[in-house]
Amino acid sequence: MAAPGEAVPQLKPLRHLRLGVNIDHVATIRNARGGRHPDPLRAAQMAIGAGADGITAHLREDRRHISDSDITRLKAEITRPLNLEMAATDEMLGIALRHVPHACCLVPEKREERTTEGGLDVLRAGSQLRHCVEALAGAGIRVSLFIEPDPQAIEASAALVGAQVVELHTGAYCERALANDAAGTARELARIESAARAALTAGLEVHAGHGLTYGTVGGAARILEVAELNIGHFLIGEAIFTGLGPAIARMRAMMDEARQDARESVHKTARGRP
Ligand code: PXP
Repeated sequence: MAAPGEAVPQLKPLRHLRLGVNIDHVATIRNARGGRHPDPLRAAQMAIGAGADGITAHLREDRRHISDSDITRLKAEITRPLNLEMAATDEMLGIALRHVPHACCLVPEKREERTTEGGLDVLRAGSQLRHCVEALAGAGIRVSLFIEPDPQAIEASAALVGAQVVELHTGAYCERALANDAAGTARELARIESAARAALTAGLEVHAGHGLTYGTVGGAARILEVAELNIGHFLIGEAIFTGLGPAIARMRAMMDEARQDARESVHKTARGRP
């Protein structure tokens, strides 16, 4: 950091924070009645038109929302990268290797859970995770591990498993925010921030997601180490009221504004101004 009054480097152009839109819950609504409507592929195309940098879809073992044929169609049709979320099982590994999406995010999965409730236990599942990471990376797929913002999980992701990317679970931060617990929200956000810094230092690319809303996205977007946010449920819910395109465009604008603001604050601090 430059001392006050010292010449500072030019402000670099805004580093783009990517938005991955998770379209799982379009499939949840479709599956409530069977049939084909609403179509997750159409939602993915609309999301891209509204500013999504990529599309995320979770093929769960029980196929409760996204189906195998959704993955086939998404991979064939969308014009931006597909991020396939999956459990680290041999079945899912085979599917990923058949489709070769741009990226895979390995997540813990329990049949009885409503959503992905926590991060991977990287230490305990280390050898199976490593097996999946090696096979996927060998096929040219970028692999991330969905983990809690915890120093041990970060170290194990890099050193034990050999992942290229971690996605930090933002669920606890968003829950504290929903409960109007300002101190808890700040504490959880600080955990994410220090985990993001540690992950980047360990050579990992950093993503974040789960439970993000218009109210919480700014906090995550301000963490300059984070390269990508993955957001789904809130956007699909908001689309009921405002339409999918406008909901995504608004989220995109809030992310960009928060990122710009954070970069400007760093620059002002470097120049010795409050
Ligand atoms: N990232 C990961 C790894 C997830 O499992 C999910 C939920 O499927 C999300 C992001 C998106 O979470 P939400 O739907 O709560 O925005």
